[in-house]
Amino acid sequence: MTEHARTALLLGSTGLVGGHVLQLLAKDDRWSRVVTLGRRAMEPVAQKHVHHVIDFDNMDGHAEHFACDDVFCCLGTTIKKAGSKEAFRRVDFDYPVEAAHLAHAQGAAQYLLVSSLGANSKSRFFYNRLKGEVEQTLRGTGFASLGIFRPSLLTGDREEYRRSEAISAVGLNLAKPLLFGPFRKYRATPANTLARVMVDVAADSPTGATVYEADNIMARAQERLP
Ligand SMILES: NC(=O)c1ccc[n+]([C@@H]2O[C@H](COP(=O)([O-])OP(=O)(O)OC[C@H]3O[C@@H](n4cnc5c(N)ncnc54)[C@H](OP(=O)(O)O)[C@@H]3O)[C@@H](O)[C@H]2O)c1
Repeated sequence: MTEHARTALLLGSTGLVGGHVLQLLAKDDRWSRVVTLGRRAMEPVAQKHVHHVIDFDNMDGHAEHFACDDVFCCLGTTIKKAGSKEAFRRVDFDYPVEAAHLAHAQGAAQYLLVSSLGANSKSRFFYNRLKGEVEQTLRGTGFASLGIFRPSLLTGDREEYRRSEAISAVGLNLAKPLLFGPFRKYRATPANTLARVMVDVAADSPTGATVYEADNIMARAQERLP
């Protein structure tokens, strides 16, 4: 696909980070088409935006919708919401990986993943280990450009109230003056800042795999984005 007519594919457009990414892509002329795939309906937010409701457990059956240049994966759930570790793994591992294969097979050159602070395939914590595993698997899918974003606790306006996250946000805010140097990455990450940095990176399409820790995300936003 040509540089001037890039198509973005966004997974997770109904979520906190994905919602911000969608708004940014909708008004960004570097993408002439924005496709979102979700399990529920949503109204298009721009003329160039098209949304498809798909069955995520049968992505192969919707393969044609994965033809794009850049994939933004903002999918995610919690074990509590998903109901089990297995169901959580489907959303946070299987879906991102299956989407990557389908998009790459049809010529996509870039994939941007919202992972998490602490992602590590050798971690003894299930969540961090799974995030590390999805990162590692995506590294093997052959994208010319792979952006891995590891935010800290995400802040922003969420439809649903998450008690533990709200408590953590208060705690991190109180601790903020102590979080500098190597601890800076534990500062909360505003979801809209993460989305802006993802779009900025996507426009650059840096070659190879790049990991953006939470402090790198905030530093890039300060340096490059008005
Ligand atoms: N929350 C934090 O503080 C935090 C910190 C670090 C990293 N992260 C990671 O950041 C990423 C984005 O987080 P977020 O807070 O923006 O997520 P979010 O608001 O919960 O949105 C998640 C998105 O994934 C979709 N999704 C969830 N389960 C699905 C399923 N079974 N089938 C299809 N789609 C499904 C949701 O669709 P519906 O609207 O249909 O549910 C929604 O679009 C996640 O990977 C998360 O692990 C989060």
